[in-house]
Amino acid sequence: MTVNTEIDSPGKTETAVQETPTIRIAQEAAGTEAIRQETTGESVPFHVEDEETVFDLRELSCYYGDFRAVREISLRVARNKITALIGPSGCGKSTLLRSFNRMNDLIDGAHIGGEILYHGVNLYADGVDPVEVRRRIGMVFQKPNPFPKSIYDNVAFGPRIAGFRGNMDELVESSLHRAALWDEVKDKLRQPGTALSGGQQQRLCIARAIAVEPDVILMDEPCSALDPIATLKIEELMHELKENYTIVIVTHNMQQAARASDYTAFLTMGDDRAGYLVEMAHTATLFTRPESKLTEDYITGRFG
Ligand SMILES: Nc1ncnc2c1ncn2[C@@H]1O[C@H](COP(=O)(O)OP(=O)(O)O)[C@@H](O)[C@H]1O
Ligand SMILES: [Mg+2]
Repeated sequence: MTVNTEIDSPGKTETAVQETPTIRIAQEAAGTEAIRQETTGESVPFHVEDEETVFDLRELSCYYGDFRAVREISLRVARNKITALIGPSGCGKSTLLRSFNRMNDLIDGAHIGGEILYHGVNLYADGVDPVEVRRRIGMVFQKPNPFPKSIYDNVAFGPRIAGFRGNMDELVESSLHRAALWDEVKDKLRQPGTALSGGQQQRLCIARAIAVEPDVILMDEPCSALDPIATLKIEELMHELKENYTIVIVTHNMQQAARASDYTAFLTMGDDRAGYLVEMAHTATLFTRPESKLTEDYITGRFG
């Protein structure tokens, strides 16, 4: 994987998030206007109209070779909100989530149809650097996966690769603070990250994601390996994080979606096994007054 040198100058990393909501590299390489004009497909009118849009999916399909795993999904993700993706196992939630930061690019044969605009820029346009995309749009996985390194080095890993030349101690401390982990680890920063409890490891992974100053954090069932108390702690943390970040979370836990998210998208799959969007709404609306019978059956436990 090539390291992007665009963020290689001191200071840039620190200010990138606040100043430039669009992908600088894409603008420079291809020209934002050109990218905008290429966009096709209708974006679904939706409740987030009043909110600033971070992701605008337009008839997005995701393929693994010939197999279409996700079919023509149009939805928007609002800034500084938590959007939950729910739906039965295998309906394409992880696939969809990975398309938000081009993580599927790493899978042989994976490709998309349709478009994802990120702050108005086509994420998949020529000239967009997937490494920079993944720095701005971080990801936390189902199983906590700290590197076999110290707590400190886990957090410092991303900034080091990006050529961060500021005060690393401060960056590590502030990242751990923001991940609500500092007080628990401040006296053992040199100990291995893997020695922490599961919940702490997951917060370490969140700190690691935060350390490179992302704009968005994607979470794929981040609590499924955690006990209820550690789960609540992550949910509280998500609530704090949305002040500064946009969060998209996949969860198979409907209580979690109902408790923790602002918007919920319900996906299911058709006979072709392709996942599609049934509906998306404010979380309270989706859980109390779903428009579709499919949603109602799912959230009342009659299906899935
Ligand atoms: N790397 C892959 N290669 C081929 N097919 C895949 C791959 N990952 C997932 N799939 C298929 O795509 C569909 C959606 O999977 P996934 O996104 O993991 O669903 P979910 O997260 O909702 O359980 C499934 O049919 C799954 O078998
Ligand atoms: Mg999944």
